[in-house]
Amino acid sequence: MKNLSFNELQPGMVTAEIIYTKRGQKVMEANTALTPELISRLSHYKIETVNIKDSANADDVKKSSRLPSVAIDKAAIPELSRAANPSYAQRIKSNPAFMEYQIAYNKIINQIRELFDFITENSKGPVDVRQLLDSCYNLISSCKTSVDMFDKLHNMRLNDDSIYSHCLNVALIAHTMGKWLHFSNDDLETLLLSGLFHDIGKTSIPEEILNKSSKYTEEEFQLIQQHPLFSYKILKSLPINDKIKKASLQHHERCDGSGYPQGLTTDEIDDFAHVIAIADVYDAMTAARSYRSPLCPFQVINIFEKDGLQQYHPKFILTFLKRIANSYQNNRVLLNNGWCANIVMINSNHLARPMIQLDNGAVLDMLTKPELEIIKII
Ligand SMILES: [Fe+2]
Repeated sequence: MKNLSFNELQPGMVTAEIIYTKRGQKVMEANTALTPELISRLSHYKIETVNIKDSANADDVKKSSRLPSVAIDKAAIPELSRAANPSYAQRIKSNPAFMEYQIAYNKIINQIRELFDFITENSKGPVDVRQLLDSCYNLISSCKTSVDMFDKLHNMRLNDDSIYSHCLNVALIAHTMGKWLHFSNDDLETLLLSGLFHDIGKTSIPEEILNKSSKYTEEEFQLIQQHPLFSYKILKSLPINDKIKKASLQHHERCDGSGYPQGLTTDEIDDFAHVIAIADVYDAMTAARSYRSPLCPFQVINIFEKDGLQQYHPKFILTFLKRIANSYQNNRVLLNNGWCANIVMINSNHLARPMIQLDNGAVLDMLTKPELEIIKII
């Protein structure tokens, strides 16, 4: 057995003992083979050192913890891919670029955590966001396309569902939306910061309530609904753009007045808050929850098209959904009846119901088969 610092951990190493947080919360069982996802989990819980088995003793690894091989050896990837016929998610995760993305992502999470801690204690600033912004820009530029970024985000979700990762995801999604909407560079930066800060108020809510898997009591629900106010209070005296403060206060407001905390309607809500609201809901829907698996982008589009369009600003939501749907043109998908198909054409009036080609060659317009639903990109 050897004691390694967090930075020395590598996928494939096997834990020698149960890992606990400083507060005694169990994070991982002994005999678990580390994967990039599990290493991220250790980062999330601020685990600084881990006792690792010597390789000779690593044979009795829990079967359940053995995940498909992770591509550490670049040369092995093509052969591995052919042999295992990996899923879309596996292909993303086995790409060495994803490993680098995970490391960069986790560093940003730590930067956000440190910044939130600093702001909580220094409510008037000054606040230096340059380093955090630079890290975010590096992460953004490491993704070849918007869909590449969304794919990586979807696959990061399984590891870390903290306030910090949610803020980073929302920032990255909002920044992409801003680019699609032709925002200026200054506005894109403000949008990025709006996402990074929007849920800072959740740090004022006890973790037991935030992470509760059972139904909230009325009191807990009311407390949760106050988090935009908490965010605003924390940010209001900082020397940062007012739009960032407004986005934190208004990101749960809805165009039809059904949102909170003030029940504002379309024109009363700031444009940046409109964008953050969409990014926030998209991130929440594509995250895994204790009661459901992550929704695939087409399921999210379906929900937005069915009952969400009146809640979000049409000039933002329509562009967003269209761009997301078009990103997956030509992708292979799984339907809810078990069929596999390729998307051949997006229907711009019904984005969740494209024309698809089945494996027997038949082309099907999903509009004529309302019972069918795309449930996974494969
Ligand atoms: Fe929120």
